Amino acid sequence: MSEAIAYERVGDIAVLKAQNPPVNALGLDVRKGLLDGIGRAEKEGAKAVLIYGEGRTYFAGADIREFGKPPQEPYLPGLCSRIEASPLIVVSAMHGTALGGGLEVALSSHYRIAVPSARMGLPEVNLGILPGAGGTQRLPRLAGTEAALEMITTGRHIGAAEALDKGIIDRIEDGEPREIGLTYTQELLDAAAPRRAVGEMAAPEPVDFDAVYEATLKKARGQLSPATAVRAVQAAVEAESFEAGLKRERALFTELMESDQRQGLIHAFFAERAVSKLPELEGVEPRDVSAMGVIGGGTMGAGIATAALLAGLHVVLIEMSNEAVAAARGRIEGNLQGALKRGKISQAQYEQLTGEALTVATDYAALGQVDLVVEAVFEDMGVKREVFGKLDAHCKPGAVLATNTSYLDVDEIAAATSRPQDVIGLHFFSPAHVMKLLEVVVAEKTAPEVLATGFALGKRLRKVAVRSGICDGFIGNRIMNTYRKAAEYVVLDGASPYQVDKVVTGFGFPMGPFSMGDLAGLDINWAARKRRAPTRDPRERVPRFYEMLCEGGDFGRKTGKGFYVYEDGPRGGGVPNPQVAELIAKDQEQQGITPRAFPDAEVLRRYMCAMVNEAAKVVGEGIARRPLDVDMVMLFGFGFPRFWGGPLKWADLQGLDSILADIRAYAVEDDFFWQPAPLLEQLVADGKSFDDLNKGA
Ligand code: CAA
Repeated sequence: MSEAIAYERVGDIAVLKAQNPPVNALGLDVRKGLLDGIGRAEKEGAKAVLIYGEGRTYFAGADIREFGKPPQEPYLPGLCSRIEASPLIVVSAMHGTALGGGLEVALSSHYRIAVPSARMGLPEVNLGILPGAGGTQRLPRLAGTEAALEMITTGRHIGAAEALDKGIIDRIEDGEPREIGLTYTQELLDAAAPRRAVGEMAAPEPVDFDAVYEATLKKARGQLSPATAVRAVQAAVEAESFEAGLKRERALFTELMESDQRQGLIHAFFAERAVSKLPELEGVEPRDVSAMGVIGGGTMGAGIATAALLAGLHVVLIEMSNEAVAAARGRIEGNLQGALKRGKISQAQYEQLTGEALTVATDYAALGQVDLVVEAVFEDMGVKREVFGKLDAHCKPGAVLATNTSYLDVDEIAAATSRPQDVIGLHFFSPAHVMKLLEVVVAEKTAPEVLATGFALGKRLRKVAVRSGICDGFIGNRIMNTYRKAAEYVVLDGASPYQVDKVVTGFGFPMGPFSMGDLAGLDINWAARKRRAPTRDPRERVPRFYEMLCEGGDFGRKTGKGFYVYEDGPRGGGVPNPQVAELIAKDQEQQGITPRAFPDAEVLRRYMCAMVNEAAKVVGEGIARRPLDVDMVMLFGFGFPRFWGGPLKWADLQGLDSILADIRAYAVEDDFFWQPAPLLEQLVADGKSFDDLNKGA
């Protein structure tokens, strides 16, 4: 018998227990064990088979680490068919999460029981594939076509109660999966319950599949797996037989398995987990954080305070005046009202979070007991240093002192205190209670346990925390500044901002750089340009149209006009601002540029090559430790489409040599901006990929 599946006989029941920690993934040994177990149960004359998992869960799915490698028999679809075809009564008892192939094993069983806390779903589309072991054929037979389409195209996990309601499981019982499973199976045997194969049930009812396909494709912004899954469900309804439906599902599954998108999404899955695993933190204990201070109650400070409150921390927020205190409280209450409306918190929780959990004060003395404080005041070194001097005077020894600066030197801020070892950067992205990214910026003297505390806080706030070294803009904003420049250069040379935005959203970003500028406020970037102007290298090309727009008082959505005009107010959809073309033409004339047309593919290529090149510099300089760190910053802070895995995974998939060749070609016109990253040149010379660096190769 395989070690991954234990076999036991309890009277007439053969019990198959999965023991493949941590999540009982259906790797080769587990599949073999299940197959052998069913065969043995039949041979030994058992009357029923009970399948359950040891530890924290029933099967959480196929073993994702096997994807992309040559598959080994027994394959999961065959195993599921074999389970379903057994003449014995097969029962699955579920706890934890029954996901993907896990739920498919359960659907191949004849009866399903679950504990109340069990969760289940078919999340395959989020990995770039579709349920390939009968899930798209069996789920609609049990839950109906519409419910199955919703679950399969979104990958949503549902609770046991909803599963019972939808007819996916037969019973909910509290207790240990082995015990509830045995009792239920015995009951079924005692009642001479029939063997009940889902595959033998009638085909589900039809829907307008073409309409669902189109709607799903549109919603997924370029990701193919959800729409492809619609066609697989369609086969459950339309195929001549259950077997023919399975075959169609398999063909579509294989198509997706071979796609770049599958590679990108699997990369994202593992990178999201690897990003917080830093070798330097092994064995380092974070400091306890139960009370957190926030300095400044503007949009950012209030967002950080909201995130902390929602994570169960006590928050002390400091503002400068009584009016500012009231405004900050109002912002936090507004954020929490949003959480209340969306059902994330109850009215009682709302009262508690805005009541005893939150203190807003003007006196730094209120910070005496906080364990960690995040400063989110105006981006000015003098102001920040003054705040840190005060924090040094008022915070207890051992308190972590964090700055939310987006580009200032954290070492210089730390030097304003007598305890630079306790100082760190915690760079949130606005709105801080919504955006998942947290850059944890390590200063020269930051102590390891302070870094560990930054990561522990990130986890507590349910953020994706990424380690960053110090440079202007840290990982994310530095890279963003570069690809935005590339976008401005193509516009200066003849493309339109609207072409750029269209191409970039076509790639899968939720927004292009110009509509993003309008949303963030063009004045913010204008200020940064002015700050950088005195130290700008004279070789740098400088588009002027952006400034010209700002000089006219058009700052984007908040003034009703920027690259777009917002006739329906700041939240409405914008239409191109006709003045922009005039400003660009003026800029071109002043700089002696003859505009030329750029094909969409070249616009995108320049944008992406600029992103990859700067990202390679960020990794090469050690600002980001690994390529995957950059990938996660771009995914969770900048809307990079998850199905490409991140800019450096995308680069690997394109081939680094072709990217370097294009960068060199662009450098012929502008060798200052398009200087190739030394790391990129090195990788191409060595025939390696960014992923090789992730793996430590
Ligand atoms: N295969 C391999 N490893 C897996 C895995 C899987 N399906 N699911 C989780 N793991 C690993 C994680 O990588 C992690 O490993 P490390 O500790 O080494 O980092 C460990 O198990 C624990 O996972 P989490 O940190 O994510 O733990 P969690 O408690 O936060 O979440 C979970 C548990 C809900 C199961 C979550 O891991 C998850 O969503 N897993 C993926 C589930 C999934 O997508 N299943 C479908 C697979 S595709 C399929 O089944 C298709 C098919 O038909 C062939």
